[in-house]
Amino acid sequence: MRDAAAKKMSVNERPFVGTVHSETDARTGVRHVRCEFDSAGYQATLYAELGIAMPEAIARSVPKRQAEFLAGRYVARLALQDLAPARYRDVQVGIGEQRNPLWPDGVVGSISHMDRVAVCAVNHRVDMDYLGIDVEALIPARVCREIATIVATRQERELLSNQGLSERVALTLIFSAKESLFKALYPSVRDYFGFEVAEAVELRLEEQTLVLRLTEHFAAKHGLTRDYVCQFTLGEKWIQSVTCGKFPEPVC
Ligand SMILES: CC(C)(COP(=O)(O)OP(=O)(O)OC[C@H]1O[C@@H](n2cnc3c(N)ncnc32)[C@H](O)[C@@H]1OP(=O)(O)O)[C@@H](O)C(=O)NCCC(=O)NCCS
Repeated sequence: MRDAAAKKMSVNERPFVGTVHSETDARTGVRHVRCEFDSAGYQATLYAELGIAMPEAIARSVPKRQAEFLAGRYVARLALQDLAPARYRDVQVGIGEQRNPLWPDGVVGSISHMDRVAVCAVNHRVDMDYLGIDVEALIPARVCREIATIVATRQERELLSNQGLSERVALTLIFSAKESLFKALYPSVRDYFGFEVAEAVELRLEEQTLVLRLTEHFAAKHGLTRDYVCQFTLGEKWIQSVTCGKFPEPVC
């Protein structure tokens, strides 16, 4: 149904929204919505057609940015409707002070986009405290060499390559996992932290999980536990990472 509805919204003979897929992750209970989109089919009137408000900052941006923002907010809208159709029908997801999406009360969520794909993950806040999603195209080998030491230590990269992952897959996975962790924790910590704040410490390939450990200093500064489990999916050309969970109850 969704596909059919979305495909009707075609522009200049090219549909903006392509296939839409939604599911609930059995491992986490998180609702995921993913859609393909084509920036070449974008025009500003699609905002009204898809029921998305265009913030001023986005109106001032280039069409490519307007298109990816629209795709992200469109999947967010569908994901919220999956969560509670009547409650979130007319809700708009605003933009926070550091680009973080502003979810309605009672919701935790996250958005990511690549060239032609937008994804959103949401859950009820009573079931989950933090949630971050990232989808990343495989980083080209040349770029890997340029950014490897910024994203991860040699030890972290070896942890993954020792289990047979290529240099590109290993670095893209660490990069994507850390971005998902950043998006998950930013709304709680309000601190723009870098890649050196988390270390990949355990890869369980058969479970598709990567454990990220915060530095002692950062965890103590924000009263956080140190270890976070990132669940990943390895596609042929992309990697998706989701870091989500509940903070432990404080010990009295
Ligand atoms: C903010 C950042 C994570 C976005 O990632 P990206 O690969 O550029 O883009 P993605 O498409 O995956 O994600 C973009 C979406 O992330 C979300 N996002 C942006 N800033 C965010 C923040 N501070 N907190 C939570 N979510 C945020 C937004 O929804 C954004 O899309 P939108 O602007 O259209 O709403 C990235 O640009 C960045 O600054 N990274 C450095 C910080 C970091 O990753 N540290 C690693 C810690 S271990």
